[in-house]
Amino acid sequence: MIACTRISDIKNQLTASRRKKKTIGFVPTMGAFHEGHLELIRRSKNENDLTVCSIFINPIQFNNANDLSNYPRMLEQDKKILTKEGVELLFAPEAEEMYPPGEKQDLDLDLGRLDRVMEGEHRPGHFKGVIIVVKKLLDIIEPTRAYFGKKDFQQLIIIEHMVRALHLRVKVVACETFREPDGLAMSSRNLQLTIGERQLASKIYDVLMYTKANAGSVPVQKLQLISLKRLVEIPEFRVEYFKIVNKRTLLPVDTWDDPEEIIACTALYLGDIRLIDNMELFS
Ligand code: PAJ
Repeated sequence: MIACTRISDIKNQLTASRRKKKTIGFVPTMGAFHEGHLELIRRSKNENDLTVCSIFINPIQFNNANDLSNYPRMLEQDKKILTKEGVELLFAPEAEEMYPPGEKQDLDLDLGRLDRVMEGEHRPGHFKGVIIVVKKLLDIIEPTRAYFGKKDFQQLIIIEHMVRALHLRVKVVACETFREPDGLAMSSRNLQLTIGERQLASKIYDVLMYTKANAGSVPVQKLQLISLKRLVEIPEFRVEYFKIVNKRTLLPVDTWDDPEEIIACTALYLGDIRLIDNMELFS
């Protein structure tokens, strides 16, 4: 695997492949790999001639300084994993390479209400930081396909919106959430949970499964409240939201009339660690 830290180097590496009309799969990440990341990488390997992965802990998408400084950094271990997986190219820039001092960072894109609900309400500025970095990365790599996880469902919807609105040529590929055997969605942040917290964390999955089992039979608002209550009753959980929403607009739904379009999303703190998860209720 060839690892690049400079934008010019990764572009040079990709020029020849593009000339040969090779398809390029791209998996943007912040590193500290788990099986969820590897699913995206393996899918890209299967579907493209060449796979590029990026590792960049994007400072402008963190709205909490502690979260940024505590975010796990394990570049050397990650590189070994990527080599084993057969990834051809890694782009792992420093912050100054992506954000040269003095350069104004902005992206004029109307996200409507997509970034004002759920995560947007609780992490102001987060999605602006995400779309700025993802747009920059897509401009640098110019991939045929880019892979994103449904684990971060709102992020996926916002990136799909950006690609459509800016007429970017990339195809966004949405990948299923990869879970631990007890149902907890894999996340780099799980590494920061204590043993006790880690055991409790699977209750998030239990409540999502309970919601799925009752979807369609209990009225939407009532079920949302019952599920929220089930989470709130766990004293260690500090719940930010539990919402049953439309998959495209991310706005609340009142009925089960459009089952294919309905998803439950939640975010909560367990100790200092913020966890998010979601489940499509009729798939
Ligand atoms: P990161 O949290 O490292 O995630 C990288 C990709 O892996 C994202 O598309 C995310 O949705 C996906 N992913 C994470 N956990 C997953 C799981 N359990 N199952 C399936 N996919 C999973 O998301 C980011 O980084 C950043 O916001 C980024 C898009 C790189 C922009 O900085």
